[in-house]
Amino acid sequence: AGPTQIYTFPDTAALSQGLDKYVAKLSAEAIHRHGKFTVALSGGSLPKQLSAVLKHNNSVDFTKWIVYFADERCVPLDHEDSNYLLSKHELFDHVPILAENVHTIDPDLVNDPEEAAEDYISQLAKTFATKDTVRFPVFDLILLGVGPDGHTCSLFPNHELLKENTEWVASITDSPKPPSCRITLTFPVLNHAHHVAFVAAGAGKQDMLHQLLDIPGHLPAQMVKPTTGTLSWFVDDAAAQKVTST
Ligand code: 6PG
Repeated sequence: AGPTQIYTFPDTAALSQGLDKYVAKLSAEAIHRHGKFTVALSGGSLPKQLSAVLKHNNSVDFTKWIVYFADERCVPLDHEDSNYLLSKHELFDHVPILAENVHTIDPDLVNDPEEAAEDYISQLAKTFATKDTVRFPVFDLILLGVGPDGHTCSLFPNHELLKENTEWVASITDSPKPPSCRITLTFPVLNHAHHVAFVAAGAGKQDMLHQLLDIPGHLPAQMVKPTTGTLSWFVDDAAAQKVTST
């Protein structure tokens, strides 16, 4: 893996602009290379931060976007906890992303997280089926957030899911962050992506960013190490204040 790129911005507005440029560039490159842009989105503050500028960017061919969720809560699609609903309100409702290209959790399976994860694997298999022998889906871009405990996606510190190295998607029923039932991409999928970017803003992230970026360790966000892809951090000054390794 190459070096981690850390991009810092004076505030969240500037961060959204930087993110817009980065995503627009990767989208154009991927569409040029293989006719589509495969991207996985997280929940939390990410959709709003991402879409603030991007939703006005007419140069992006959203019709070629294939969207998955890095993690999703096992709730109906119209539930306030749904990561899909959040991204729909922030982004999909404002740009010409095709509904059939947005891969949601199967709403009929939200009461059976294991089945929901299996179904999500089948959806991924259809999108990423290739004739070569790549064992894991290779996303053009995965956008991640990070929690105060160092979690990313629904991969939490000391959880057995951190060891998952065969399944593409896993279910969790004891998430420390509510709601407790979720599905999540696993580390092998995160680490096979062409590009992975973390987005973190606000003073509340100061201590965790210092720990993640300055102190070697094995917190979930530190286990994101793309094997051949790039790893970037988009942070604002408030979040980066205690980081010394930039
Ligand atoms: C989720 C998220 C989760 C999130 C982090 C950071 O669905 O809960 O995908 O992994 O990205 O908890 O959340 P904030 O961006 O709100 O701090």
